[in-house]
Amino acid sequence: MIEQLQNAVAEAETRLTAVTDLDQLKALDSEFLGKKSLVSSLKKQLGGLDPEERKVAGRAINDSRRRIEEAVAEARSRLDAEALAKRYEAERLDLTEQLHRIERGHYHLVTQARDRLEDVFVGMGFHIAEGPEVESAWYNFEALNIPEWHPARGSFDTIFVDLGEPEEVMLRSHTSPVQIRTMENQEPPIYIVAPGRTFRTDTADATHLPAFNQIEGLVIDRGITMGDLAGTIDSFVHAFFGGDVKSRLRPSYFPFTEPSAEFDISRPDGSWLELGGCGMVHPNVLRNCGIDPDEWQGFAFGFGIDRLAVMRYQLDDIRELVNNDVRFLRQF
Ligand code: DAH
Repeated sequence: MIEQLQNAVAEAETRLTAVTDLDQLKALDSEFLGKKSLVSSLKKQLGGLDPEERKVAGRAINDSRRRIEEAVAEARSRLDAEALAKRYEAERLDLTEQLHRIERGHYHLVTQARDRLEDVFVGMGFHIAEGPEVESAWYNFEALNIPEWHPARGSFDTIFVDLGEPEEVMLRSHTSPVQIRTMENQEPPIYIVAPGRTFRTDTADATHLPAFNQIEGLVIDRGITMGDLAGTIDSFVHAFFGGDVKSRLRPSYFPFTEPSAEFDISRPDGSWLELGGCGMVHPNVLRNCGIDPDEWQGFAFGFGIDRLAVMRYQLDDIRELVNNDVRFLRQF
């Protein structure tokens, strides 16, 4: 009987380590531990033995049952672990793949140029001012000493808005009207720069855009001279382009400044590049804003931000800035 039990235990252990699913496990469980199993039928025969034999046989049967039960429990936990691993594999989310797909953008290069310009001028003590993109003839022209009959009006290629009297409302053709709005609303001393969008009837080509960006500067204080203007332009050019780059003023004409100049920056090959216009604020402009030209003087300047980006990155075509081709934009 002992040998019979030992064989049964050995067979149960071998077959249980080989089960691959719960149905097989159930079948083996009833085969080796159920009512018709060896351990059960031997137990029923215990009654016919004498007490000493019964003790030994009973212990052997219980021992065998326990070992088979252990083998069943072991097989069950192995099957459970396998099932769980299978489920984890099936439900797995590949988060690394998600990470690769997240692409961070960055500011457009004109926005970058504008931000840097603001930083440089704020660092020099200027405040940032803003004005509307749709203007009246007063702010865009008249208050800037450009009356209706003035030939300079024609040179601005203005885009008019169909509102009010003919040629009364327009998209601003420069940021200079922000000078007027600032002087109307603020007591001198004034130190502001005004970046913003401007519009002209130009057809887009390699060097023109009908919608472009300018930055305007205005200083109004006591005893301001052309020397302050030249020094401010020079400091700005050094801060923005680097210490090696020089600036110069060339006599020019604008209705809103007297004297007026254009300012250039030096290129590595020694040639000069025109950047913008500037000058001493015309007394008529000050008077138009209720500022006494005998007490206050000032200078102003203005230039294109898009052109600055074109120069800085040596682009062949200003239209690249608005084509919105990410293969181009990604480079900056
Ligand atoms: N508003 C001028 C333009 O768009 C640029 C300019 C020239 C602005 C001289 C100024 C200035 O403030 O003083 O062409």
